[in-house]
Order: sequence, then C-alpha cells, then structure tokens
Amino acid sequence: MWMPDKVYGFSDCETQAAAFAKAAGLDYALVDVQTFPDGESRVRVPDGAKRAAVFRPLHNPNAKLIEVVLAASALRDQGAEEVALIAPYLPYMRQDIAFHDGEAVSQRVVGDLLARAFDRFASVDPHLHRTPTLSAVFSGKPALCLQAAPVIAEYISNQRGCEDAVIVGPDIESEPLVRAVAEPLNAPWIVADKTRHGDRDVEINLPKREILKDRHAVIVDDVISSGGTVITLAELIQKAGSTSLDVYTTHALFDESAHSAIRSAGVRAVISCDSVSHPTNAIPLAGLIAEGLRTWQ
Ligand code: R5P
Repeated sequence: MWMPDKVYGFSDCETQAAAFAKAAGLDYALVDVQTFPDGESRVRVPDGAKRAAVFRPLHNPNAKLIEVVLAASALRDQGAEEVALIAPYLPYMRQDIAFHDGEAVSQRVVGDLLARAFDRFASVDPHLHRTPTLSAVFSGKPALCLQAAPVIAEYISNQRGCEDAVIVGPDIESEPLVRAVAEPLNAPWIVADKTRHGDRDVEINLPKREILKDRHAVIVDDVISSGGTVITLAELIQKAGSTSLDVYTTHALFDESAHSAIRSAGVRAVISCDSVSHPTNAIPLAGLIAEGLRTWQ
C-alpha cells in the first residue's frame, strides 16, 4: 500500500483538503500562493514530506494547473521522493479527441503535463469516454479512479419519498454511474440518448420513458456545467408523468443562473458531492477518497 506522509492543500479548497487529511489520518499543510500583478503565481510549500500528496479540485483550471505543477516541483526541491496529485475534479478530460479540425486534444496535453510533474494520481468520476483507464491519461502512471456512486446512493437512500425512485442518466456514457447508483437502491434505471449540437444546445431522446409515470425521478450525471443537459432531460421526464424530480451530480460546475434555470425546469432539488465547492454540496467525498487510497499499490 502507498500512503502519503502529508497532504498539501490550497486556500480555495481548504475545507475539502483538510477533511480528506483528517479522514485519512494524515498531516496537513497549506500551500502558499501569491499572484503577481501580471497574473503569474508564486507558489511556496512549507516543507517537503518524503511522500507528498497535493490535493486540489481543478475546476476553473488554467491557473490551478500551473500552480499544482509548481507545488510538485517545490516539494521535490524540499526533499519529496514521491509526489501524488489528488484532484477530486479533473479538468480537460472531455476533449479526448479533436472534435473539429485544428483542435488540441486537451486530455492528452494536460495528462502529459501532469504526468511529468507527479508520480501517481487519484480522481473521482473523471470523464473518461473513449480512454480505457485513468492511468492511460497519465502515461501509464498509477492512477486511482474513484466512483462517487456509493455515497450518492447512500444519500438518496436516506431521503424521504425515494422508495419508488427511477434513476435516469442523460446519455449512454452515464450508464456505469447510473447503474452503480441504482443497484444498491434496488431501483430501476434508464439512460437517454444525447446529441450535443453546441455548448448549451443538446437534443435528448428518452427510450423506455413510460416507466416514469407516477414515480419519483432522479437524474444522476457526473458533471453539470451549463445545465442544458439536465434542463432538456427534466422536461422529457416530466412529460412522461413523473411525480417529482431531483438531480444529483458529482461535479457541480454550474453558476447561479444555471442553478435557477434548472430549478425553474421543475427540479425539486439539485444535490452535489463536494469535489467542487458549490451551494448545492451535500455529499462529502473525504471518506470515499481516504478509503480509496488504501488500495493504492
Ligand atoms: C457529458 O458528457 C457529461 O456527462 C454531462 O452530461 C455534461 O458535461 C453536462 O454539461 P451541461 O450541463 O453543459 O449540459
């Protein structure tokens, strides 16, 4: 088993990083970041544990990516022999091919950048569509790919009125997550067919929708960003006769206006894991990540 000696967090994710360190029984320290007037970051680590884990969810990723790479380098300069990256949310994973001529394959570029800086990785529900494993993103280095499904299912099981829930996924890629939430609940599940025409423009077809009549529906998606997917799916679910609808996501990337648009589409509650700090956070991931790390070889 590989365990870090110490966890290094950042001020924008201190709650999650410190909660993770506590759940894993590890020491915790804060990385100091100052921003120069021209936007450059100065990164300073307090010391260098032999086995260090940098913990940071990487939404709004551009500056954060550079800062975690600088932190890894500083930790090595301070004597770290191995440095891990624990990024509960991993960005740039969706662009795993060039969808249009001339586009960079962001997953490969960002994966290579991080693989040069870190020795091992952990993340939760990374969006790996065509890439077989998380390790493949990082040049074959050890990478732990955790699923939020067990903690989402546990949370749902404690909600009132969820006994007759049908779990619904927005697209074929959501099937593993949807199935893993539905199975421990003994709930039926269906997944839609989604075609994306633009950032905020999706077309969704919902086969087997008759199962939703007079039942509580629960949408589960790994990421909510513009909210377009959930809003389009919510309309179809309600037309199919569901009695109520809640939405769960691992990574809440949406802003306040998308949140209110989702609620206006008839969604009773939007609930997220705390990979990304967000007003909808209700499901902590610290225990899941700490437990997952015990399987690190
Ligand atoms: C897509 O493939 C993901 O699973 C999500 O469905 C998608 O990223 C949601 O994006 P948006 O909220 O912008 O529709």
